[in-house]
Amino acid sequence: KDTPVVGHKRVLLAAPRGYCAGVDRAVIAVEKALEHYGAPVYVRKQIVHNIHVVSELENKGAIFVDEVDEVPTGAHIVFSAHGVSPAVVNAAAARGLQAIDATCPLVTKVHREAVRFARDDFQILLIGHEGHEEVEGTAGEAPEHTTLVGSPDEADTVEVHDPDRVVWLSQTTLSVDETMETVRRLRARFPNLQDPPSDDICYATQNRQVAIKKVATDSDLVIVVGSANSSNSVRLVEVALEYGAKAAYRVDFASEVKQEWLDGVCTVGVTSGASVPEELVEELLEALSDAGYTDVEPVKTAQEDLIFSLPKELRKDLSGQM
Ligand code: F3S
Repeated sequence: KDTPVVGHKRVLLAAPRGYCAGVDRAVIAVEKALEHYGAPVYVRKQIVHNIHVVSELENKGAIFVDEVDEVPTGAHIVFSAHGVSPAVVNAAAARGLQAIDATCPLVTKVHREAVRFARDDFQILLIGHEGHEEVEGTAGEAPEHTTLVGSPDEADTVEVHDPDRVVWLSQTTLSVDETMETVRRLRARFPNLQDPPSDDICYATQNRQVAIKKVATDSDLVIVVGSANSSNSVRLVEVALEYGAKAAYRVDFASEVKQEWLDGVCTVGVTSGASVPEELVEELLEALSDAGYTDVEPVKTAQEDLIFSLPKELRKDLSGQM
């Protein structure tokens, strides 16, 4: 490994970072809906958890609402990448709304697992953060069968009806290490705990954590670009601290970087959450360059090529014009 000259200022730029396939698809879905149906297009909740993306879409005519009853009858509504419970789908249909489901296919996969395990009469221990939209959507598939486990500590106290019929599922954007700790503690109490059929924490979350671990080890400071309500972005800050960064901060915009964060710092690690457009990272790199961090070294730990097709409702309507 290169030993930096003392005082040499550099940036280690994590890759992969930024947009995942599910975010890319959801943002394009809103843009295409605006182009095809015309403004306004309603979106339930933030389409992805990034304030810059949301305000850009608002400028183009998207209207973000909390619930479907705020949307005029008959209008188009896009469900966010985090997914919705069947109750929301039904409420939209009852209101005569034309729904476009931009739920990430990797979230939908977890919904299907929940439905299947509930049908087989399993109790689902859903590892995730209370109040997060994705957790509300997934739990809503089988509310009677689902118990939320919010942390490793909660694994020690959660109550189950039948220890032989329990499965764990998870939110897609958690810390891999912390989730494995939660599972370890659950399994210590319930040895017959079943695993999900495949990883619920998605490829993008995992890849961004692997990359920042490598970067953090060599960084005095790590800056994660991402919004405060972005689960995977907040996890990147935690992972960076666990893996040796002396300090780590999350910012929405480069302008939030404080001068004192850079005091005595030679190496700055940079990454961004899965809902963050690259232009925000570029602005941060410019600001760092102005502060003397002109040398940018990429640290790449994986190649991502996944692309999801647009939501089927949109594909159908767009196919008429293609
Ligand atoms: Fe989907 Fe993972 Fe992105 S669940 S929206 S690919 S962070």
